[in-house]
Amino acid sequence: MYRVVTIDGPAGAGKSTVARLLAERLGWRFLDTGAMYRVVTLAALREETDLEDADALERLATGLDAAFPPGQALLAGEDVSKAIRDVAVTRASRFIANCAAVRERLVAWQRAFAEAADVVTEGRDQGTIVFPDAPHKFFVTATEEERARRRLAELLAKGDETTFEVVLADQQARDARDASRAIAPMRPADDAETIDTTGMTIEEVVDLLLRKVLPPS
Ligand code: DC
Repeated sequence: MYRVVTIDGPAGAGKSTVARLLAERLGWRFLDTGAMYRVVTLAALREETDLEDADALERLATGLDAAFPPGQALLAGEDVSKAIRDVAVTRASRFIANCAAVRERLVAWQRAFAEAADVVTEGRDQGTIVFPDAPHKFFVTATEEERARRRLAELLAKGDETTFEVVLADQQARDARDASRAIAPMRPADDAETIDTTGMTIEEVVDLLLRKVLPPS
């Protein structure tokens, strides 16, 4: 039985970076489940699939040639790691996240990763739905403003032209949808520990989680 650490939380909380670094420190595999939803979204946009047609989305996800080697997302062999971060993909991803059949398929992929290696997995439903028995569950969050500031810095660094107000409004809309959707809504598992990272550096958060996962003896 492989070990699993789940990290859930809202957009912009720094979950991906924290999960990746924690996985590196533990020597475990990092699973970015948002990237899976994003790859399906990108494929749907490219193939002009009707985002509200659940059957069409299921067919798309079932036939999808996607792979997630460490640090990468591949669609039909093409490295789409950057393309899946486009604003258009971020916005459209909610249709994919809302589709029960797609979720079922992605959950099966996620569990398959944990059958082959120890994993630190990051998403919205990892502690609640995908790995309810994981021994270490964290809900990583930060104030709305801090999350929007971090996201803005990221977008500006990659050359996107946007403003704090736009990023904050997008994020609020996304949080509300993630938390209120009928299937697999974003929420802390009952046995998850909430970590408020407001005012903390990434390194401080990683150190804190590492101490909780592997208490110094
Ligand atoms: O974390 P992210 O921004 O990369 O997530 C992309 C989309 O996928 C977003 O709409 C939330 C959704 N998602 C989800 O529903 N469940 C997960 N486990 C991970 C992401």
